Amino acid sequence: MTEKRIIIALDFPTADIAELFLSKLDPANCRVKIGKELFTAAGPEFVRRVVEKGFDVFLDLKFHDIPNTVARAVRASAKLGVWMINVHASGGVTMMSEARAALEEFPSNRPLLIAVTVLTSLNESELTRQNVYCSPAEQVDRLAELTFEAGLDGVVCSAAEAPLLRGKLGDDFILVTPGIRRTQDAKSDQKRVVGPTEALAMGSTYLVIGRPVTRAASPVHALEELNSAVARAH
Ligand code: C5P
Repeated sequence: MTEKRIIIALDFPTADIAELFLSKLDPANCRVKIGKELFTAAGPEFVRRVVEKGFDVFLDLKFHDIPNTVARAVRASAKLGVWMINVHASGGVTMMSEARAALEEFPSNRPLLIAVTVLTSLNESELTRQNVYCSPAEQVDRLAELTFEAGLDGVVCSAAEAPLLRGKLGDDFILVTPGIRRTQDAKSDQKRVVGPTEALAMGSTYLVIGRPVTRAASPVHALEELNSAVARAH
């Protein structure tokens, strides 16, 4: 296989449940994402164990604080040996630049650093209540530009936003897109979903996929199917 484009969201409540699931997966076929729930329950030791098993780990903790605090949190994350880290772009360019600078200490194994733009749970009326008088798409666009300016590697965005950002920020800017579903998958709480092949065609670099794999009768089979769809997209 050429490149691992699928990041499985390990949205599990405990280390034991997550490790049982991981025992079914081959790190050659996917990367994994550890978010706030699992990290809070299982801690940095668990992250180290997953890295030791050979998985590329996206530590999805969405740091948002003053520049010094975020830079130090990013440095602590890098020490765990993770592949990718994220921060909130709304924390500001100085915060993002200092976070990026903290990773210069890891020249041989620098994790990728990306930013969350606008949470997909925020709609235009929520933004207006925060005195942000533009559409979520316009705000995503602006925050992605600031992320690029701060020297980060990419952003998390919806596949719908990918074509514009890809055109504007170039081929090397990483676009990580959740909300991926095949036609046979339950949408669950995702509102606007895009198929894996379609998302890649729209400019996504990596696809974050949770329940279509984690809740599948055979996660291995579901992942194989998704990887075939990715291969067909090339
Ligand atoms: O199970 P599902 O495929 O919907 O999981 C998607 C993953 O991507 C979850 O971990 C979710 O928190 C994350 N995510 C998302 N939408 C965003 C940002 C992150 O679904 N805008």
